Amino acid sequence: MGLLHFGWFLGAGFGVQGWGDPTYGIGYDWKQPTVYQDAARLFEASGLDLFVIEDGVTVPDTYGGTAEVNLRDARFVPKHDPLPLVPYLLAATSRLGIVPTLSASFYEPFTAARLLATLQHFAGGRLGFNVVTSGSDIAAQNYGLDKQIEHDLRYDRADEWVDVVRKLWRSWEPDAVLEDTANGVFADFRKVHTIDHRGEYFQVRGPLNTAPLAEEPVMVQAGASGRGRAFAGRNSDVVLALASTAERMKAHRDDIRAVAAENGRNPDDLKVLFVVNPVLTANAEETAAVRARRSELTQAAIDEQLQGVSYLSGVDFKEFDLDQPLPPLTTNSNQGTLDNFVKSAAPGSTLREILQARASKDGLAIIGTADDVADQLGSLGEEVGGDGFLFTGQVHPAHVHRTLDPLVPALRRRGLLRTELGDGGLRSNLLDF
Ligand SMILES: Cc1cc2nc3c(=O)[nH]c(=O)nc-3n(C[C@H](O)[C@H](O)[C@H](O)COP(=O)(O)O)c2cc1C
Repeated sequence: MGLLHFGWFLGAGFGVQGWGDPTYGIGYDWKQPTVYQDAARLFEASGLDLFVIEDGVTVPDTYGGTAEVNLRDARFVPKHDPLPLVPYLLAATSRLGIVPTLSASFYEPFTAARLLATLQHFAGGRLGFNVVTSGSDIAAQNYGLDKQIEHDLRYDRADEWVDVVRKLWRSWEPDAVLEDTANGVFADFRKVHTIDHRGEYFQVRGPLNTAPLAEEPVMVQAGASGRGRAFAGRNSDVVLALASTAERMKAHRDDIRAVAAENGRNPDDLKVLFVVNPVLTANAEETAAVRARRSELTQAAIDEQLQGVSYLSGVDFKEFDLDQPLPPLTTNSNQGTLDNFVKSAAPGSTLREILQARASKDGLAIIGTADDVADQLGSLGEEVGGDGFLFTGQVHPAHVHRTLDPLVPALRRRGLLRTELGDGGLRSNLLDF
């Protein structure tokens, strides 16, 4: 296997980092930018291409019909808005791609286009944005809706949203700004155009009133359902994905690449990055001990997994008997995430067996020494066919160092991880290989 792309997915968002770890809060305050800046510096020095910051707009209360577990354990809440963090991360780094999350359901396309264009000017080509459609009803209820619109319609609307955002970015021709001081002409009015978009969901006049971009922000997206993959294949530069086996990863990537080709795109321009959670150990004994501890499935571990899948799917998993197979489940929220959870163990498995499979086997968690983990990532990359991985986990200092300090040299020794990022921006780094 040759070089792979690596990044970091901060699943806790601009939220609580390291609650439950013995080092919690020592030397950092999750509410301030410093801890994220330190992490970003380490990611850049480690040769990671991008830093993706999750976001959501609820105090989750799906699990058991109450926010108790989420608030008690600081799971997904509280959380700041990631966009104001971006300039701090840019200031701390010079090559790393910075990717905040933004909802196509709750940001007007004009607002999003303007905000992202402004940040991209600061970023000099290093900005991406993770566009989500925000599936939960309780999120929709913060924005004047009784319930979230139907899953596939959300994607239809998001397709149009992306078109409008991109039309706005292109509403100034690249050479519209002259800054011709001799003749007193700042910009050529003939090269700045209204977009006059009148679609199914949006009506936007334009033009955008920010300065034109040399490079549009990289669009990142994580839809995994059939409709989500169609959206990704049409629009995305990077797809974030979850899958529990190499076979499922390969099928996912092949599918998205096929949709990209159907849309007249070069599939190699689109990178599918799988989220993995490396758990680094010192030796085989510690690996065995970590596996054993995880397979114990304490109530805390059960709560942690179930509140997570309840939050992401909108289905209350507290209602199910741990020792029975799950009933057939559907959701209007994150379909791919639900499907991935259910398929983590053999068909007909009980809920407890699914939790056990996710906790103790390789699913998302790759447990081992740096050499074990690097070998596994190399062979997974080989089987899947590329493009790379996103490490996940909270960015308190102990965790990022525990993970990257041993893993980076092991990946580099195998030629899997680049030694240096290019200075041409995020898209250019992603297209290097
Ligand atoms: C790695 C990853 C990151 C995600 N990040 C976010 C996020 O920050 N905010 C959010 O609302 N949804 C997030 N999602 C959910 C996706 O945007 C999407 O809704 C989900 O994958 C389900 O899409 P589907 O119904 O097409 O399968 C994420 C999903 C994955 C797999």
